[in-house]
Amino acid sequence: MGPYINGFLEPSRFIFFVLGAVYWCTPFATPSPIGVPNLRECQLATDRSVVGPLTTVQLNCCLPIPRSNVVDFTFGKYKATTKRLRMPAHKVGSNYIAKYRRAYELMRSLPQDDPRSFATQANVHCAFCNGAYKQAGDDSVLLQVHFSWLFLAWHRWYLYFHERILASLVGDPTFSLVFWNWDDQRDGGNFMPAMFLPTDSSLYDAKRNQANLPPTLVKLVPGITGNNSEIINQNLNAMYQDMVTNDNAELFMGGTYVTGTDLSNSTVLSAPLGGSIENGVHNAIHFWTGDITQPLIQDMGTFTTAARDPIFYAHHSNVDRLWDKWRYGLPGGPRDDHSDPDFLNAEFYFYDENGSLVKVKVSDALDSSKLGYGYPEVAADELWINYSPAPVTSGSAVPAARASGVPVVGAAPQNGTISLGSGLTAIVAAPGNTSRSTKQREVVVIQGLKVTRDSFVSVLVFVNLPSSNSSTATSSAEYVGTYNIIPAPGKTLTANVKLEIGDNLQRIGIQSEAEVVLSLVVKGNQPITIQGLLIRYE
Ligand code: C2O
Repeated sequence: MGPYINGFLEPSRFIFFVLGAVYWCTPFATPSPIGVPNLRECQLATDRSVVGPLTTVQLNCCLPIPRSNVVDFTFGKYKATTKRLRMPAHKVGSNYIAKYRRAYELMRSLPQDDPRSFATQANVHCAFCNGAYKQAGDDSVLLQVHFSWLFLAWHRWYLYFHERILASLVGDPTFSLVFWNWDDQRDGGNFMPAMFLPTDSSLYDAKRNQANLPPTLVKLVPGITGNNSEIINQNLNAMYQDMVTNDNAELFMGGTYVTGTDLSNSTVLSAPLGGSIENGVHNAIHFWTGDITQPLIQDMGTFTTAARDPIFYAHHSNVDRLWDKWRYGLPGGPRDDHSDPDFLNAEFYFYDENGSLVKVKVSDALDSSKLGYGYPEVAADELWINYSPAPVTSGSAVPAARASGVPVVGAAPQNGTISLGSGLTAIVAAPGNTSRSTKQREVVVIQGLKVTRDSFVSVLVFVNLPSSNSSTATSSAEYVGTYNIIPAPGKTLTANVKLEIGDNLQRIGIQSEAEVVLSLVVKGNQPITIQGLLIRYE
């Protein structure tokens, strides 16, 4: 990218310019970390109907061109004058709610093209998830902030500026977002929060699943069934699997995404990879909240419209809280974020409370306290941290599976392309007792999973349970995790899905076996293919 960002000279390069030196710091070379896009080159984002008649929707999520120079974020310029404490949505009182409503009222009343308006705020999400901008340095590829290590940091920055804008609109520097505490299965967090429900409020959005209003419990795995206590146990196990056992940066946060990474056009080996927090419980809440009768499961069920629902920001506030919890608050001591410079130096654009365009870096987002906000301790976290799923099987299922003709599936490319249909059960080689370093995790890799994202679909993974199907309960140690795919019709996705499986094998008592039975259960009606299955230490 050249030195002119949106027609304005970047300050850092201005000096070279006035000195008359024809000296570019980095432009024209392909930078490896993701850079900020050229906002003047915006195209219509596209989406198509998911249910009902097929329609293609062209969405103009193009962002306003700022009138002043781009601001480079520094902690000095954005000094936190006071600490914001983000509270659980189900616990805040009427004054808090009144101020919250007022803030969104003011945001909704700003002119659409104001960078601080609710419409623009929602478009910021649409723009970076439905292909409005090309990657800086590789304009053959669209910029996408989901499905990779960019996910947590990008959404943290997004909320940071969103919150600052709301605070400045109500003139209260202590204004803080709430978090939707959907993981809380004991103290009332696991419902659609009441503060977002009154239809006459600025926090209301009509496009939500009307079957999921209180007292319906959230489902952290799509389509789980059972009575309330069975749902609760399945929710707790979803949290335990996504948060506790996926304990390295790649498994939890997602994998590499650099300039040139292409979601639609990747090969098995180059496929980007979302983390367990994104693919699992986060995507499940998007699906659960969106209106299933809308063509695109709007608003929350598709990224294009998700941020048109004020509940979105409370949902992501919890995802953000869980990132901190994962990093600092789980047994075994602090966990590490990625330290790769290609991660740390990735850059994004957001608008601040003055309507200025700000350029931020991932590395400045890693410490929420430096950004001036935090979350209270949530006692109910202990329930999922200590969920300790018990197995429903004992002994290896391999001999019986082999006798009944269950196929062996190995690593790509020896299998060719395998269609999953409604599911696949296979015998897969496991590393068993081979030695590993303490830093390594036993991981199942679903290689080269490919799907066209025409409708919402989930792939549930079970081990040692060859009879698994779409009604199998996910509360036991045999449940490994779920890969949920948010629809974006017409767009294909290739991914290597990775999930920690060692804890499951230990609990069942089959950690020394050289082979295990793995089942992939597909919920939804979208053809999915894979290239191979692999279990190894990583
Ligand atoms: Cu940008 Cu919850 O998605």
